[in-house]
Amino acid sequence: APPRLYGPHRDNSAGVDLSQKGVRTMLADAQNHFDKAMPYACGPIISGKVKTGKAREQASPVDSSVIVSKVVEADEAMVDAAFTAAHKAFDAWDRQGGAARAMILRKIADVLEADTGRFMAILTREGGKTLNDGVAEVREAVDFLRYYAAEAETKFSHADRLPGPAGETNHMELAGKGVFACISPWNFPLAIFTGQIAAALAAGNTVVAKPAEQTPLVAFETIKLFQKAGLPKDVVQLVPGDGKVGALMTGHPLLAGVAFTGSTEVARIINRTLASRDGAILPLIAETGGLNAMFVDTSALKEQVVDDVILSAFGSAGQRCSALRIIFLPRETSDGLIEALKGAMDALTLGDPADPATDVGPVIDDEALGMLTAHESRMEREATILHRAPLSDALKAQGHYFAPLLVELPSLDVADREVFGPILHVVRYKRADLPKLAAQLAGKGYGLTLGVHSRLQRFLDSVREAVPAGNTYVNRNMTGAVVGVQPFGGEGLSGTGPKAGGPHYLYRFAAERVVTINI
Ligand code: SER
Repeated sequence: APPRLYGPHRDNSAGVDLSQKGVRTMLADAQNHFDKAMPYACGPIISGKVKTGKAREQASPVDSSVIVSKVVEADEAMVDAAFTAAHKAFDAWDRQGGAARAMILRKIADVLEADTGRFMAILTREGGKTLNDGVAEVREAVDFLRYYAAEAETKFSHADRLPGPAGETNHMELAGKGVFACISPWNFPLAIFTGQIAAALAAGNTVVAKPAEQTPLVAFETIKLFQKAGLPKDVVQLVPGDGKVGALMTGHPLLAGVAFTGSTEVARIINRTLASRDGAILPLIAETGGLNAMFVDTSALKEQVVDDVILSAFGSAGQRCSALRIIFLPRETSDGLIEALKGAMDALTLGDPADPATDVGPVIDDEALGMLTAHESRMEREATILHRAPLSDALKAQGHYFAPLLVELPSLDVADREVFGPILHVVRYKRADLPKLAAQLAGKGYGLTLGVHSRLQRFLDSVREAVPAGNTYVNRNMTGAVVGVQPFGGEGLSGTGPKAGGPHYLYRFAAERVVTINI
């Protein structure tokens, strides 16, 4: 018999097939339909009611003159009302057990999957997602819902019997902890937003969720869809806003735990806030950044390396925490690899992410563009610019576009932090120097993704031993972890674990209770 696979049995979403003309027509119609009605009103959803008030305009990264939404941000009273309502709803939601919660999560997954075209259209305009990224993101959100539903069913619907002496029974069961704050990023504004909430709910918690400032609309539409699919209205509360809203959440007296994905700096701020609170010691599940490297040796296949590097470094405009930031190339083959990479960069099409021909869309906003441009200037002084992908002036003037950039570092000292965008740093190495370089990289303290291109087991083993990483990819691209297949998350500066989309994730959202009865 084949070995039993770890994790609950379930199928991942099939998504839609972009090679089908009918699918592309459906998506184009959905995009036109969406675009025509911009800007959309959105705001806090407290106990199912949309709050109105003074709205802020959110422009599209694709075209700064296009306003995607007018968003009302949550104030202190709304955050408080959200926690109070979620707290009141907690007992009933927790007590109904994992099987009943799984049914609702699966229903939400079905409704979301059926609405793929509309959600992809929102992701394109609000998040600058290409069609490939959009379909992957909807699939990932659906997968999280179904994965955590299966986990709720198997782990949260009964007590497990434990061994013990005669005359005594021991049982262990899992329960929710209370109200979780879910704070999610703009780069996966549907998948991570949904994944955090689905996990917290599956484990029996209720939720107050804050989407990233840049992507409030997709979050707003997702919560409306949750409620349309049958989720009780008090169980999830939506409080859009910036870090001030986040601080109100992490300081709220009714808080039971935090799931956060974003920068290492903000994770530290949350950690400090939680540490200085009175009362219970609260858990923080943080998924943060990476200084992700790929190590290539002389046995690697050039064409495969180039394909995988282009996708890993420049796909999603480099705005994935898993994205490749530093590539180590052997001196012997580096010239040929770099020439081939330049050629592949020249073939990249930057443009409107709704266009099927687009490979690379915009970066998220002015701040991101400013940070990347500043890093580019620093690299002009401290490193060597090897190549820029072509970017037209028209596109540059229209939205937040940044030309994918290849830079050679004089040494690893220059790479001191994650630069979130389409910039790939090259380090050429002599074989004898590799252990020192790998140790220097590991010493920077990140541990998210790692790529290796080699046909030699010894090379793979030595890199893996030297560089800690939550997710290692060998002879393939290093982004796009699939729920249940590559549970995702790092260590050190990259996050606390446990891995999202993995079999240990829900435990961190749960209270574990053991009952011993002397009979
Ligand atoms: N889960 C995403 C990926 O694997 C995170 O950035 O690419």
